[in-house]
Amino acid sequence: MSSRRRFIKQSGLASLGLIAAGQSSQATPKKHKSKKVTRPLAIATWKNGVQANVAAWDVLSKGGRALDAVEQGVKVVEADPNDMTVGYGGRPDRDGIVTLDACIMDETGNAGSVCALENIKHPISVARRVMEKTPHVMLAGDGALQFAKEEGFAEENLLTDKAKKEFQEWRKTSDYKPLINIENHDTIGMLALDAQGNISGACTTSGLAYKMHGRVGDSPIIGAGMYCDNEVGGAVATGMGELVMKTLGSYLVVELMNQGMSPQKAVEEAIARIVKKIPGYQDFQIGYLAINKAGEVGAYSLHKGFNYALYANGENQLIDSSYYLK
Ligand code: GLY
Repeated sequence: MSSRRRFIKQSGLASLGLIAAGQSSQATPKKHKSKKVTRPLAIATWKNGVQANVAAWDVLSKGGRALDAVEQGVKVVEADPNDMTVGYGGRPDRDGIVTLDACIMDETGNAGSVCALENIKHPISVARRVMEKTPHVMLAGDGALQFAKEEGFAEENLLTDKAKKEFQEWRKTSDYKPLINIENHDTIGMLALDAQGNISGACTTSGLAYKMHGRVGDSPIIGAGMYCDNEVGGAVATGMGELVMKTLGSYLVVELMNQGMSPQKAVEEAIARIVKKIPGYQDFQIGYLAINKAGEVGAYSLHKGFNYALYANGENQLIDSSYYLK
């Protein structure tokens, strides 16, 4: 049996043409094997990564650039009002304001990012313009909005009726405890390896629901929420950003791969670093994805419940990540 067929068989077919390739909850991380795939490939966090991958694959399958693939991919989720942790429809901060964070990185090592951006539906595209049209890497708040408007992005209200209603409910108690696996989707982080062998990444979020106004998470921080090195690979993070920022998680994963680790070993080590360094880590979810130049994939999280979408060899699969806390 070919390795590809064996992989699909081991994964178990699920409905709707997707394959829930579960890591058994019994499996120890040591037994997890990275899966070799043929380029191109796209990989994205959470189940909404499946729809993002479709848009990314549209670019990649035509020989397009990984950078375009990740931008087009995450834009689908940014525009989805039903995803309440990314873009339009995202939950607001504790003042009722939707603020967005995003970053993007290309195969040359160029990077762009925006944080605390209001009223713009596609922060990832603003981040790309920062990368391509300014001498800077990151623009924040009013400055990011001013730049976006100068670039022709339209201002619009991002707070949907549904998010507003939930926020008004939340205000009655103002309970600030983050929920693990919020609605089973959080930040979208996406990596792509194109047919030319180039790697790019993108990460975009409305951040922690009901955060303090002005709070910025890991997602727009190059090296925290996402990092790519075209000679090595790329990594993205999802979950409680403060833990990722304190360990500079995505850079750590890529550097570990640079030192010779497989993507799977590298993401496991990045989670181990959080466990070692951050007291109270058990109260939060963190998930990492990584790819290397060979198209090997790694995925690991603190808690059960993290999943990701992998589009490779013409198949888009939803896969359960292995995890640390059994
Ligand atoms: N990972 C998203 C955030 O913490 O804002």
